Amino acid sequence: MRHLLDTADLTRAEALAVLDTAEEMAAVNAREVKKLPSLRGRTVVNLFLEDSTRTRISFEAAAKRLFADVINFSAKGSSVSKGESLKDTVQTLEAIGADAIVMRHWSSGAAAQLAASGWVDSAVVNAGDGTHAHPTQALLDAFTLRHHLAAHDGVAPTGTDLTGMHVVIVGDILHSRVARSNVWLLTLLGARVTLAAPPTLLPVGVASWPARVTYSLDEALADAPDAVMMLRVQAERMGGAYFPSAGEYTRLWGLNPARFERLTRQSGSRLDTPLVMHPGPMNRGLEICDTAADSPQNTVLEQVANGVSVRMAVLHLVLNQDPALAPQEARP
Ligand code: CP
Repeated sequence: MRHLLDTADLTRAEALAVLDTAEEMAAVNAREVKKLPSLRGRTVVNLFLEDSTRTRISFEAAAKRLFADVINFSAKGSSVSKGESLKDTVQTLEAIGADAIVMRHWSSGAAAQLAASGWVDSAVVNAGDGTHAHPTQALLDAFTLRHHLAAHDGVAPTGTDLTGMHVVIVGDILHSRVARSNVWLLTLLGARVTLAAPPTLLPVGVASWPARVTYSLDEALADAPDAVMMLRVQAERMGGAYFPSAGEYTRLWGLNPARFERLTRQSGSRLDTPLVMHPGPMNRGLEICDTAADSPQNTVLEQVANGVSVRMAVLHLVLNQDPALAPQEARP
């Protein structure tokens, strides 16, 4: 694996290899000394041209735990704010010694453009590009789901997939790179995915995605999900009105207290109680109520912790060009 740009580029074998490597990294992270000298002498640049808490900090932690030198770069305070181009920025970073560029960019397709440009030799890891893709978020979500499934079934997670799981993704699908990357990865790993959203928050062409679409959250939640992934309403990407009011959104699309209680009481989930997932940051009181956000079923912090292991695996694999990931299976 030379770069990680999107989960849609991964074969099943590659996705499982990342998750299995992340299991080994999780074992490192469970030790008192959370260190593995896999990237000694390598330099990882975190190039974040859009805001981030979880992704930026966990990539930094991941690189440091692997002994890499880490350079953190954000648009604010840099020459990007003076108008320096992406090409000149990344060539400057490589001249300083970057071996991998972990990039978050506001523009969909920016990571793929960088990887294909020939501007730099560095490995490129997409940390979120516009509304397009967020592959490491989807990988950490799959890792979290796989852990719960394996624990429930009393087996080791390594080598297993998500066959038989049903994941409902709810809300602002239109602006969500998390939803896009998850639909591809979860279905690649055998899960069934339902998208529940108002028509205004679904993208053109969603009917061709490998997921069922419903305009009723209550109908989706009654279909025995193993996990309900609540998406953040991305107000910063909404130029116009996509729903009448915040109150109306919460009533129809929010995991409000009544809906959360119904979800936790119903039977049929493969797990005993469905998980509540959220990529963060959460809009409490809008797409998710405090009761659900603070419940034991909520995996949001577990997802964050797993993100460090998954990002360690990704950095290890792209920078060490693991031969296990070399063969490219033909994608259907
Ligand atoms: N989930 C996620 O991408 O969060 P951040 O924007 O805080 O990195």
